[in-house]
Amino acid sequence: MGSKIYSYGRQTIEQDDIEAVAEVLKGKRLTQGQTVSDFEKALSEKFGSAFCTALSSGTAALHLAALSLGWQKGDIVITTPITFLASANCILYAGATPDFVDINENSYTLDVEKLEQKISLYKKKGKKIKAVVAVDYAGHPCDWKALRQLADKYGFQLVNDNCHALGAEIDDDIAYAAKYADLAVASFHPVKPITTGEGGAVLTNDNKIDEKIKLLRTHGIMKESSRFKVQSSKLSGPWYYEMQELGFNYRITDFQCALGISQLKKLDSFIQRRREIAAFYDEQFATDDRFIIPAVKNGIKHSYHLYPLQIKFDMIGLDKTEYFSRLKTNRIIAQVHYIPIHFQPYYQKRFGFRRDNFPVAERFYKREVSIPIYPLLEQEDLNYIVKTLKLCLE
Ligand SMILES: Cc1ncc(COP(=O)(O)O)c(C=O)c1O
Repeated sequence: MGSKIYSYGRQTIEQDDIEAVAEVLKGKRLTQGQTVSDFEKALSEKFGSAFCTALSSGTAALHLAALSLGWQKGDIVITTPITFLASANCILYAGATPDFVDINENSYTLDVEKLEQKISLYKKKGKKIKAVVAVDYAGHPCDWKALRQLADKYGFQLVNDNCHALGAEIDDDIAYAAKYADLAVASFHPVKPITTGEGGAVLTNDNKIDEKIKLLRTHGIMKESSRFKVQSSKLSGPWYYEMQELGFNYRITDFQCALGISQLKKLDSFIQRRREIAAFYDEQFATDDRFIIPAVKNGIKHSYHLYPLQIKFDMIGLDKTEYFSRLKTNRIIAQVHYIPIHFQPYYQKRFGFRRDNFPVAERFYKREVSIPIYPLLEQEDLNYIVKTLKLCLE
């Protein structure tokens, strides 16, 4: 334990994961083979979606989600300021206009009441929102029932940026993401609940969305002759394909998907270990008024991709930068999730967002510290981490 470095998150790769990848590497197809569809099928089964497309990253999945929902110039799409840039950038990729709604101070996810207020404000200006990208931040699901009701009431599309939350549950249902949203997006980056190195997926119950995403994944190329736009016997031949849309190369490889299949089998045990770690942290920090532990709403099972601990630096009289430097000296590499997106110079310059626009998110940002949480942490590691986190505040 003496020289271990504790990052806020890391992957768990075991011998059977390595063997699963090696098996594909020894085979004929490294990409565009059967293992990709096998991974998609396994994801669909686990998360109860009728369709699934695996992609090269969560960002690629968000990009194609935006295009498959037909976002375009003039469309207003709302997300949370407390998320990774990709949740908002996908709105820009499609040429649409991003806006934000502040977070709820307990769940740290998009505040549904404030969303409705924002919709009313737009309505007064004669405008309607096209979609909402809601993020199950840290692994705590948004209030998806309320979001679905609002989406039906006002007629907007719903995207679940589920990149943190594979394995979370609403009312004991692990398949909630594609149930409430029009589509759900996953990421398999190494710090995420399961990994393929880089990778992502879109899960949906809508056949049209899935077809469009599959088309855009490979340059917009259609190979099924029965679905060609131009039906002519002169064009037919085994080499022939049609480009029907402007697509991309957002494919994931077969050996990555072999890792994905192997990891997916372990998701439940990974999440269980994350919950045990979170329960220990809760117990250690809850009674100390320098800290605020992440709350979990009734009916929710958190998947703890992150453990966002709030520390009252202003009350303690300690600078957060100094705290991070003390932690680093003691081998703890904490992180902050996230710098509110409306603080980013690009968003400020292009859309005129300013500090003070979203006060709950901004206060959260000042206090939030993502402390180490990943399945490989053992009890002696946790004891050291808690002791060090407290000592470094002194
Ligand atoms: C909330 C959220 N959305 C999207 C992404 C993008 O995923 P990827 O890194 O796989 O492109 C991330 C990854 O950090 C994320 O945390």
